[in-house]
Amino acid sequence: MMKRILVTGGAGFIGSHLCARLLNEGNDVICLDNYFTGNKENIISLIGNPHFEMVRHDVIHPYYVEVDQIYNLACPASPVHYQYNPIKTIKTSVMGAINMLGLAKRVNAKILQASTSEIYGDPFVHPQPESYWGNVNTIGIRSCYDEGKRCAETLFMDYHRQNNVKIKIIRIFNTYGPNMHPSDGRVVSNFIVQALKSENITIYGEGTQTRSFQYIDDLIEGMIRVMNTDDSFIGPINIGNPNEFTIMQLAERVLALTGSKSKIVKLDLPSDDPQQRKPDITLARNLLGWEPKVQLDKGLGKTINYFKTKVL
Ligand SMILES: NC(=O)c1ccc[n+]([C@@H]2O[C@H](COP(=O)([O-])OP(=O)(O)OC[C@H]3O[C@@H](n4cnc5c(N)ncnc54)[C@H](O)[C@@H]3O)[C@@H](O)[C@H]2O)c1
Repeated sequence: MMKRILVTGGAGFIGSHLCARLLNEGNDVICLDNYFTGNKENIISLIGNPHFEMVRHDVIHPYYVEVDQIYNLACPASPVHYQYNPIKTIKTSVMGAINMLGLAKRVNAKILQASTSEIYGDPFVHPQPESYWGNVNTIGIRSCYDEGKRCAETLFMDYHRQNNVKIKIIRIFNTYGPNMHPSDGRVVSNFIVQALKSENITIYGEGTQTRSFQYIDDLIEGMIRVMNTDDSFIGPINIGNPNEFTIMQLAERVLALTGSKSKIVKLDLPSDDPQQRKPDITLARNLLGWEPKVQLDKGLGKTINYFKTKVL
């Protein structure tokens, strides 16, 4: 049955893929965005579809619309963007959550929060299961994002307990793919852009820190499956790829796949940069029968092809 679905942050990297997939599945989609890091280019192929609507709006202000489901993604996700105006970032997470939860309560919509592995901070437990409470600095330069997202999870739980709002919380781990912002400073897009421009590939520290990367299509599949779980399931649930690589290995794969002659150079490690991050996805495997399918080389290939159209 066709549902009316609101996607906040719908013109961003993840939101644009989600809007496309929800439309493909025969839904009516409202994409709400203030275009801070999002871009109309990301959703240009959807414009003209009578089941797609764009709304320029900032989630720190209330927004009223009749919908069945809300995916709350509005929030800059990369450190360069969320540190540009940290007060605005925390307002977006916290006031955005309050406004969207208020809307969900009013119209009895189901609402999914795009939370993050950053809520685990610099973890002492590895890999991170949903039951781990995290190790997060409240006063560092990443705190506006990490603590904003943690507070949003709290708000989701309290709206659920106090007002019976139907919620789902997913904790997204590092995701990459087409429509990432070319200058967002995240490691995958950085390396690809540097390789394509034949610039030095910059690694922070020794490159021994590990990350796990999930391709966007795997995330979108997981998100939609979580939204469609029984109302009794609220999460939080990790959605990520547990395959670990060091940052050095990632740089080497990007060099190999682009055929670039760029050199790898090492820079100082920024403060609060977690050394290890890897999801425990047992819950997603058992509950959703979900696990990532796209291998790193395949996902990188598609992402490189996208960036070729942007930077060359
Ligand atoms: N990309 C990842 O690896 C990752 C990992 C964990 C969590 N997430 C979460 O997923 C969501 C989407 O991330 P993304 O990677 O697509 O980032 P993105 O920056 O590409 O998308 C965020 C979107 O939100 C919009 N936005 C920001 N502030 C807004 C506001 N006040 N009002 C309305 N719109 C606003 C931006 O313009 C943008 O379109 C974010 O909530 C992020 O925290 C992403």
